[in-house]
Amino acid sequence: MSRAEPLEGLRVLVTAGPTREAIDPVRYISNRSSGKMGFAVARAARDAGARVTLISGPVNRSTPKGVWRVNVDSAEDMQKAVLQYVPDTDIFIAAAAVADYRAKEVSPRKIKKAGDGLSIELVRNPDILATVAGQPEPPFTVGFAAETENVTDNARAKLVHKNLDMIAANQVGHNQAFDQDDNALTVIWDEGEQTLPLQSKRSLAMALIGSVARLYRSKRAKGERA
Ligand code: PMT
Repeated sequence: MSRAEPLEGLRVLVTAGPTREAIDPVRYISNRSSGKMGFAVARAARDAGARVTLISGPVNRSTPKGVWRVNVDSAEDMQKAVLQYVPDTDIFIAAAAVADYRAKEVSPRKIKKAGDGLSIELVRNPDILATVAGQPEPPFTVGFAAETENVTDNARAKLVHKNLDMIAANQVGHNQAFDQDDNALTVIWDEGEQTLPLQSKRSLAMALIGSVARLYRSKRAKGERA
């Protein structure tokens, strides 16, 4: 008898990569996310039997076979796409590095050099993860936390603040996590914590999906929100 896959029959929505926040037609604010982590999570969810939608910021990566991919640019675009798919989602995993701020006004023309300095007013972007977790009937919601210090404390605060089911925390910095082939995570939920040591993002994503599947099933068995 073949064993059922851990996410068989479930619909998983994953975000990956950076967002780009336009300043003018040729410039933008962004970050160093390559999409490697999020794409590995999408692949691992697919291998666990899920139907996977991947919403990706601008990255140069091929789509894992069998995964439905939606390309977006800015945080607002990503939020719009995510909210479109959330009603058909059992598990949402937010691995994207979403820009927290965008330019208040996008110049329709290339900004010319003038004077010694330039100030650009920034405004807050929507928090996609918190918006999803705050829905009346949210999916099982998993965030990531990219931290340079107090990694687990800061991540636990995000878990509570954003009302998440689980958060995967990574130490970021020079040659850590962003755009690397390897990564390490501390997976945190209300009643526990698990360390996933440094390894390829592909095997790390498989371990993460294993933890997600276990907590999802256990919450569902207890009749909690999943
Ligand atoms: O793409 P790689 O090069 O492989 O790098 C992987 C990674 C370091 C980007 C990834 O492992 C990771 O940590 N992703 C989350 C990065 C991040 O934005 O962390 P944060 O601590 O700033 O945000 C916390 C959570 O809120 C994240 O799940 C993020 O997707 C979400 N968020 C943040 C801001 C915002 N406006 N909306 C959000 O949904």
